[in-house]
Amino acid sequence: MTVLVIVGAQWGDEGKGKVVDLLTADAEAVVRFGGGANAGHTLVVDGEKVVFHLVPSAALHKGPRCVLGAGVVIDPKVLVKELDEMRGRGLLPEGRVLISESAHLVLPQHFLIDGLRERGPGAIGTTKRGIGPCYQDRAARRGVRMGDLAHPTEFREKIARNLAAWRPTIEAMGAEVPDAATVADEYLALAPHIVPWVGDVSDALHTARAAGQRILLEGAQGTMLDIDHGTYPFVTSSSVTASGACTGSGLAPTHIDGVIGISKAYTTRVGDGPFPTELHGEAGAALRTAGAEFGATTGRPRRCGWLDVPVLRHAARVNGLTSIALTKLDVLSGLKELQVCVAYEFDGERIDTPPARGLERVKPMYETLPGWSEDISGVRAVADLPEAARNYVSWIERAVGVKASILSIGPGRDQTIVVNDPWT
Ligand code: IMP
Repeated sequence: MTVLVIVGAQWGDEGKGKVVDLLTADAEAVVRFGGGANAGHTLVVDGEKVVFHLVPSAALHKGPRCVLGAGVVIDPKVLVKELDEMRGRGLLPEGRVLISESAHLVLPQHFLIDGLRERGPGAIGTTKRGIGPCYQDRAARRGVRMGDLAHPTEFREKIARNLAAWRPTIEAMGAEVPDAATVADEYLALAPHIVPWVGDVSDALHTARAAGQRILLEGAQGTMLDIDHGTYPFVTSSSVTASGACTGSGLAPTHIDGVIGISKAYTTRVGDGPFPTELHGEAGAALRTAGAEFGATTGRPRRCGWLDVPVLRHAARVNGLTSIALTKLDVLSGLKELQVCVAYEFDGERIDTPPARGLERVKPMYETLPGWSEDISGVRAVADLPEAARNYVSWIERAVGVKASILSIGPGRDQTIVVNDPWT
């Protein structure tokens, strides 16, 4: 396996960062291909909690290149902060980071619009990181790209044109339009810290692949937040599924050797939108506390619920999953019984995957499986898991039709059971 893709199989926050971290040890390049600083990857390294929003989680490893592809929307201030963090840890040698010249900049007007919209009736519970308006500018072909930072005159013109396009919207919402010269000055001041790292990502990745180097494409968010295949309109604005890994990096579909879907052993969601297996009241609160389910980016409490197999089947199909990494299995320890949603009742019929419309109307159909009481966070082999935990995993594999390659039973790097090495 030379090129692996990691995607979220649910609504994000599945623990992708930890799995990426694990697989990074054998990778030569780790690439973010979509989203922006709306993502947050929390890693626990030597007992210390580190959160990255933009640079790949691989930033903490000495070896692989950290790449931001064309599909990523970049807040230059967050980027410079994270590069500084890497530098502070002695992890930023020459050539370590590569940023696509085609990736778009998230600018103050994007934050402004995102925030204003979230105050209105169309609010969907975004992270307010300017992501939607930035992708909107990309599609409207008036965005400003990382490659523009090296050309100050053009950069200034593009900023002015972009703000002129937003002016009627911003004024209609009763806000003040940022001053073009001030915005341009502020971002051009960051250029010297960024421009040396900007280049042709697609070319670099093709060269690396041709040389037999291992490339890990690190997804952000999760399948159900995908702009096309998620719970529209309660979604993010990019293609977060495996096909987005190609458009967002410049590698081709025929170059992908495997796709790992990350799923929690239960389900969580932040932001608004349908969530069939959501647990309200005490049961949801207990899961939230046991799993420390608070957003890495916004700190918002996550909505929690039982595992939703129709969602995982959908993720297996649209991503072509070759295996699953099941995370936070330890959080379920101590529950006498586990409910798992096997299908939905939808307008009087049984359906096995989420409908494109009307997910808020489905009624989850549950099966009950036995739980386990043992603390499993110290287990390092499948055979040492309690029988009920082993059964839970194999039940999921059967129901989804995809095997588990990795089980995570705690936040630490070592709290991982590799069933099958995805690189082999
Ligand atoms: P946006 O990506 O900030 O526009 O937010 C759109 C939706 O995606 C909201 O429901 C957010 O809560 C959700 N979202 C965006 N990024 C993440 C993430 O990394 N984890 C979980 N949810 C996310």
